[in-house]
Amino acid sequence: MTDIRNIVVLTGAGISAESGLNTFRGPGGLWEGHRVEDICTPEALARNRALVLDFYDQRRAALATVAPNAGHVALARLDREWQGGLLIVTQNVDDLHERAGAERMLHMHGELMSAFCEHCGHRQRFGGAMLDGTRCGGCGAADTLRPDIVFFGEMPYEMDRIDAALGAADLFVSIGTSGAVYPAAGYVQQARHAGIETLELNLEPSAGSYFFHETRLGPAGELVPAWVEEMLGK
Ligand code: APR
Repeated sequence: MTDIRNIVVLTGAGISAESGLNTFRGPGGLWEGHRVEDICTPEALARNRALVLDFYDQRRAALATVAPNAGHVALARLDREWQGGLLIVTQNVDDLHERAGAERMLHMHGELMSAFCEHCGHRQRFGGAMLDGTRCGGCGAADTLRPDIVFFGEMPYEMDRIDAALGAADLFVSIGTSGAVYPAAGYVQQARHAGIETLELNLEPSAGSYFFHETRLGPAGELVPAWVEEMLGK
């Protein structure tokens, strides 16, 4: 990899696994015992609001018990020290990248620690339990807040910014994602069409592994610090 200036990093649940947060798919995955359609869709929220709010309340509570791992810390170091362009695009709704200190990042699937009002659209930081009752900080309505999570069938956030960053990138790196959910799963193809370098760091080959120039298999807590060291040592 020569002459790399602008980097786009995509992260998924695998980067937070070593912090103790379950991934979505595979044994012990978050969907186990729950059908996706029962939890993570606008229809599920309309049909069974308490179940959906409880699911995300539990995940929000779990977030308070975990900490960033070596993978998050290494990416935050890359953010601080990389002189070129960088955008960390995470599919994760946890806040471990920012708790590690990363700033040049965005959450394309929303955030657990954020809520928005279905009545007025106001978005606010939210750290408690929605089942306990909520009030919108914008319009004052009661119990109209929902998790600021992009459900299946909803538009991911900041697509324009991601496309622009991919368009200007020299290197696309995918970390800890199974490549099962679009549009993120398609970024490697977008990168290949643009003729830029692509690298995958994952525990096992993902659905689209064959699209990457290089795949390194192993835990993110080891692979990411080693790759960041490589980039900063150039
Ligand atoms: N280090 C690196 N990779 C890991 C580790 C680890 N320690 N542990 C697991 N992985 C890998 C798994 O092998 C798997 O390929 O991380 C990937 C996690 O895949 P998923 O559980 O499918 O998570 P993700 O790809 O982030 O899911 C995408 O799906 O349900 C939606 O909106 C949700 O953002 C999520 C999206």
